[in-house]
Amino acid sequence: MKVLTLLCFFSGLISQCLALAPARSTYFNPVLTGWHSDPSCIRVDDIFFCVTSTFESFPGLPIYASKDLIDWKLVSHVWNRESQLPGVSWNTTQQQQGMYAATIRHHAGEFWVVCEYLGLPVGNIGVLFRTKNPFDETSWSDPLRFKPTKIDPDLFWDDDGKLYVATQGIILQELNLQTGELSEPPVSLWNGTGGVWPEGPHIYKKDGWYYLLIAEGGTATNHAVTMARSRSLTGPYEPHPENPILTNRNTDEYLQTVGHADLFQDTKGNWWGMALATRSGPGYKTYPMGRETVLFPATWEKDQWPRLQPVSGKMTSAWPLPPRSRAGLPGDGPFNADPDVYDFPPGKPIPRNLVHWRVPRAGAFTVGPKPHGGLLIVPSRANLTGIPFSTDQIELSGQRGISFIGRRQTHTLFSFSVDIEFKPRAAGHEAGVTVFLTQVNHIDLGIVASEPPAGPSGSGGKPSLALRFRAIGTGGAPQPNVVPLPSPWLRSDGTASVRLQIDTLNTTHYSLSAMPVAPVKPGPKLVVGTAPASLVSGGNGSFVGSLVGAYATCNGAGTGLDCPAGGNVLVKRWRYTGLAQYFSATDSVPTLLP
Ligand SMILES: *[C@@H]1O[C@H](CO)[C@@H](O)[C@H](O)[C@H]1NC(C)=O
Ligand SMILES: *[C@@H]1O[C@H](CO)[C@@H](O)[C@H](O)[C@H]1NC(C)=O
Ligand SMILES: *[C@@H]1O[C@H](CO)[C@@H](O)[C@H](O)[C@H]1NC(C)=O
Ligand SMILES: *[C@@H]1O[C@H](CO)[C@@H](O)[C@H](O)[C@H]1NC(C)=O
Ligand SMILES: *[C@@H]1O[C@H](CO)[C@@H](O)[C@H](O)[C@H]1NC(C)=O
Repeated sequence: MKVLTLLCFFSGLISQCLALAPARSTYFNPVLTGWHSDPSCIRVDDIFFCVTSTFESFPGLPIYASKDLIDWKLVSHVWNRESQLPGVSWNTTQQQQGMYAATIRHHAGEFWVVCEYLGLPVGNIGVLFRTKNPFDETSWSDPLRFKPTKIDPDLFWDDDGKLYVATQGIILQELNLQTGELSEPPVSLWNGTGGVWPEGPHIYKKDGWYYLLIAEGGTATNHAVTMARSRSLTGPYEPHPENPILTNRNTDEYLQTVGHADLFQDTKGNWWGMALATRSGPGYKTYPMGRETVLFPATWEKDQWPRLQPVSGKMTSAWPLPPRSRAGLPGDGPFNADPDVYDFPPGKPIPRNLVHWRVPRAGAFTVGPKPHGGLLIVPSRANLTGIPFSTDQIELSGQRGISFIGRRQTHTLFSFSVDIEFKPRAAGHEAGVTVFLTQVNHIDLGIVASEPPAGPSGSGGKPSLALRFRAIGTGGAPQPNVVPLPSPWLRSDGTASVRLQIDTLNTTHYSLSAMPVAPVKPGPKLVVGTAPASLVSGGNGSFVGSLVGAYATCNGAGTGLDCPAGGNVLVKRWRYTGLAQYFSATDSVPTLLP
């Protein structure tokens, strides 16, 4: 009721509001759950499209499509093949670089995505991709590369057809689509209202005004959306009288860090926006999903400043959402928060929502090997931590690909498991599951091979296997726990056939467990460790969000890029099920989908 009154006040017409009242919509935030920061969104015909930041995960720059703003289908990745940016991924040394803050726009019949790749020896590179069909992943172009001045590029075509890129600062440059040159010197448009890092700009032209929407205050709890406008593209810009126009700073909202927004209209002319937000509460300690994407209604009358409805977990808009429609949406990817039920049959690609940390080594992942199918993972010498930032032993750093594959944690409470077959032959071989934020923030349960016991009572030269729980992350980590793999869990040929599972014990802790799959029937479960989700919240991974997945490594054994032979892992069954979504510190629903 409060929201309705507020919007009536904005619209100024009480009779009109009352007429609208029955058509209000209620929905939950975030709408794009799990690690999805810096959303940029458009509508083309009756389909909404968003792109989000992916840093060094690969494939990157996912395109989500929706007809109703609630069900988001992952239809393609803009950066989906190494040949689009040869060598770039493997030159990324640190943990939070790569593809930052893209903008998506539709112009002259094409979809355009501009982004910057950070952290290369040559500095940052600007990349502009295009396609006529975002539902066909392979149709995304190789990028036009440019040398950016600052980060967070926008794309704005003025009425005269010229293309402008505004970036952090906020500065404006014209981009030459033939040469990739940016005009010099940049024009300073606006410095924001005084918050740190004025960034993430988007320019809109409406009713003869240029509106400049930006983020400032940094992407943590001071984050905010501010706006300015001008009659001329190059300024002077006058600030919105009510800046910041969207923020949850200094509130006790569950959804914090609200900022980095983009605005668009539905087919009825209603305005909406998307922004990033973190389900952390003001305590800002446990938020393993990092920055997620929230939806908010906006009003924007002719010649007037827009007003954005504050973000909370349960939202009521004064006008209806577009009707729910999954079936009418083209494309073949999974919906973002749907369960994973993957058995990896031959002939199918790797499911689109599974990603790696940097481009993996060629041949590291094979779907559907004969005779039984599954996902075959060839181990990397680098383990999940590796020796970060090592240049003399680069193949151990993770910079040459880590044999890791994961999906976003998209629910506060979930259960994830993989059934693996693993018959390691050398000490160091390891197969496991992990909650992974960065190479220095992850919680793992692996089956690890160690040297065979010496002497005549040894196991005949076969390495002995153990379950190892290990964690590393923000604010210290629990002690490792190593327990011998129970011998009945091994088949007669020495293959371990085991289910490795990650569950949320509650909103703050994970539990990692194992159980035999064959020859014994599944269960009973052996819990090997528990760890706080604060380990994978913020700290060295404050820009990214947790992935849950599987890995294979030999922990540095072997030479060059190759592990000792015999450490391949077969993932036969992969399941992820969301169990609950919190939309406030105390309230949850089984799913945020109404
Ligand atoms: C990768 O880094 C090397 C060494 O600094 C450099 O020679 C090469 O040009 C870089 N390649 C790319 C694509 O950044
Ligand atoms: C923003 O700040 C910079 C540095 O102080 C200054 O040079 C520039 O003129 C300012 N821009 C505007 C539009 O005020
Ligand atoms: C979650 O479970 C862990 C381990 O039992 C416990 O230490 C923690 O306090 C619990 N958290 C909540 C929010 O109940
Ligand atoms: C992680 O963060 C700590 C504390 O800020 C810092 O000292 C350390 O160097 C970081 N480690 C990495 C690998 O970035
Ligand atoms: C991970 O790999 C590094 C580098 O090869 C190695 O030093 C470290 O011991 C490995 N960690 C474990 C737990 O085996």
